[in-house]
Amino acid sequence: MAELAIIGGTGLTSLNNLEITQRELVHTPFGEPSGPITYGKLGSTEVMFIPRHGSGHTIPPHKINYRANIWALKEHGAKNVIAVNAVGGIDDDMGPGALIIPDQIIDYSYGRPMTFFEDSLDTVVHIDFTHPYCESLRQLLLRAAEIADLKLVDHGTYGATQGPRLETAAEIRRMERDGCDLVGMTGMPEAALAKEQALCYASICLSVNWAAGKEEGEITMQAIEACMVEGMEKVRGLLEKVPEADTAR
Ligand code: HPA
Repeated sequence: MAELAIIGGTGLTSLNNLEITQRELVHTPFGEPSGPITYGKLGSTEVMFIPRHGSGHTIPPHKINYRANIWALKEHGAKNVIAVNAVGGIDDDMGPGALIIPDQIIDYSYGRPMTFFEDSLDTVVHIDFTHPYCESLRQLLLRAAEIADLKLVDHGTYGATQGPRLETAAEIRRMERDGCDLVGMTGMPEAALAKEQALCYASICLSVNWAAGKEEGEITMQAIEACMVEGMEKVRGLLEKVPEADTAR
């Protein structure tokens, strides 16, 4: 049973270094996940993979069934979950191409089912979310980056916006004042749901553009896509080294 799961983001709908052994359609009490769980081997380590936006990248951030994805992975034995997220850079060190392992979150999203403990007051659980990401998995990713000889930023506050539109310059200025270093649309409620399910969850963020107002001119999809192709190769290289980094855990 695979204990490590990867949730792929935009630009990472499959893992080409994954030796696929099985695909499994999963139904959950919360509806359908973004796609079947793909089982495979990353080197000698078994992993599960779900593309967050669906295999054809058809599900927008606000329509993703985050609960079904997390539930499906937990039900199938996941203990550690590595999320991959494309983001815009707010901090000077987090421009296009930068890889960031965030350590904090501010949630600006709304209207998304964001808890497993919704219906019965008897079972409401208030999780401790002081540290939204699992520190041991963050450290493992930092070690994997060292092995892969990849430069990355080892901290950052992820601002989760609702999307699907990008932000206004004023929204980004506000987020910067709040302390956000990067902005994306998919970090929440995923991280909180993972914590509710006691999963060890961390994220690899790839900056694919400067956040709104951080540079002159429009943010174009062409520039984002170009950055994505190159950056996701680095993410794949990083993921490949996770099993080796894990032996030191
Ligand atoms: N804002 C929000 N989400 C994003 C961005 C951005 O600038 N870039 C990639 N995902």
